[in-house]
Amino acid sequence: MIRHLLNPLDFSVEEIDALLDLSDDIQKRPEAYAHVCDGKKLATCFYEPSTRTRLSFESAMLRLGGSIMGFQSANSSSAAKGESVADTSRVISCYADIMAMRHPKEGAPLVASRVATIPVINAGDGGHQHPTQTLTDLLTIRSLKGRLDDLTIGFCGDLKFGRTVHSLIEAMVRYPNVRIILISPQELKVPSYIREDVLRGNNIPFEEVNSLDDALPKLDILYMTRVQKERFFNEEDYIRLKDSYILTSEKMKLAKKDMWVLHPLPRVNEISVEVDDDPRAGYFKQVQYGVYVRMALIMTLLGVKKPC
Ligand code: CP
Repeated sequence: MIRHLLNPLDFSVEEIDALLDLSDDIQKRPEAYAHVCDGKKLATCFYEPSTRTRLSFESAMLRLGGSIMGFQSANSSSAAKGESVADTSRVISCYADIMAMRHPKEGAPLVASRVATIPVINAGDGGHQHPTQTLTDLLTIRSLKGRLDDLTIGFCGDLKFGRTVHSLIEAMVRYPNVRIILISPQELKVPSYIREDVLRGNNIPFEEVNSLDDALPKLDILYMTRVQKERFFNEEDYIRLKDSYILTSEKMKLAKKDMWVLHPLPRVNEISVEVDDDPRAGYFKQVQYGVYVRMALIMTLLGVKKPC
């Protein structure tokens, strides 16, 4: 049976533990993995801009000994001529062994997976889900904090359109003693299915607040996000909301000494560059973990065994 990754819940907690353990081993002895995907091909089908996700997938496959192909925008593929996602998916299945797809429309990777004859990975679909960012975030949190349970996590910024936020909340509620603080302006609160089905439905203690300053002293993890210009219908609303939160060194004085700041990136100005020098800034470490976890994911979906 072909296995896809479309949603973070496609993997059980036990499977995620195994994936993170494999990522740790890859990090410790990368040379052992340098040829495990010799002869395998990854296609990156990106209908939306990306730096980290596309290039980290490509870096991951190259580090495993495989090769890469793909397109970087809808305009440089036959989507520009009107080809459907389903037809493209059938075609890519003839060329590659595994496919990572980013698309502005929610559900496009799911459509691709229904006709693909190779594993399809959702590399971000509209404002919906970004499961490989979630795997990256889980590996980062486990590596930096030593655990995934008993944590207070603050999500700050654009919680309405932030697909990384939706995916990470869905993944974190499966761990014991997780508390969530949602920090956003009224207009950018999480969608109701996250509040009602995911948080209330799993009896997760959570609060929705407006003030970052009030939340900061309580947090073990602060997950900052960008207000996403590309998801707004109205530029005036974007301009009004884009600087709702700016994390500065001054604000970091309110945080615990062992709180970590994460961000899926790209950042615009919601984290001042001065914070980069704070030892609690974890967002560039997060980028590095993203390569290891995508290597582990490619191996897992292709059924490649861990080397001795
Ligand atoms: N975190 C993330 O998805 O970054 P990119 O948009 O650059 O891929």
